[in-house]
Amino acid sequence: MEHQIISRSAEETMNLGQKFVALCKPGSTFCLTGDLGAGKTTLVRGIAKALNIKSVVQSPTFNIMKVYFDGDKPLIHIDAYRLADLNTDIGLDEYIGYETGITVIEWPEFIKNLIPENAIEVNITHVKDDERNIKIVSNDKEFMEGLK
Ligand SMILES: Nc1ncnc2c1ncn2[C@@H]1O[C@H](COP(=O)(O)OP(=O)(O)OP(=O)(O)O)[C@@H](O)[C@H]1O
Ligand SMILES: [Mg+2]
Repeated sequence: MEHQIISRSAEETMNLGQKFVALCKPGSTFCLTGDLGAGKTTLVRGIAKALNIKSVVQSPTFNIMKVYFDGDKPLIHIDAYRLADLNTDIGLDEYIGYETGITVIEWPEFIKNLIPENAIEVNITHVKDDERNIKIVSNDKEFMEGLK
């Protein structure tokens, strides 16, 4: 199933992240794709806000992974960009889909073999100025219905 949403501000994208938290099951994985500055991290900030995480969510580009424990549920934020040519198992699979938490993966294409089959795919594209097209693909009927 697929659903498209137009966001007209960073705030609207954050609100969508909050909606994701309200609708998803614990252990859910979100895969975020989109160009530089599309709004991937902004969406993660919305997810963090909904989980009452007080830390500031930054792009984990230099960390590969950051886990936030200071909210209602753990938030696992992975940026696989720098794993592109690293054919090394660094144990990320232990965190992805962590049963009580929410996992969000930027650049999932670089760790394809670690992505759970039921991951929710989110692709953000720049339309113009502050306008973004956000496409969500998932087989979770309840989740998809909730977005409408
Ligand atoms: N509708 C919108 N949704 C999301 N962000 C928006 C929107 N309109 C404007 N912005 C701005 O676009 C920027 C998005 O930056 P963000 O860091 O979230 O992108 P990113 O996809 O994570 O980029 P990168 O790949 O460089 O990490 C922010 O400065 C945000 O304020
Ligand atoms: Mg980012």
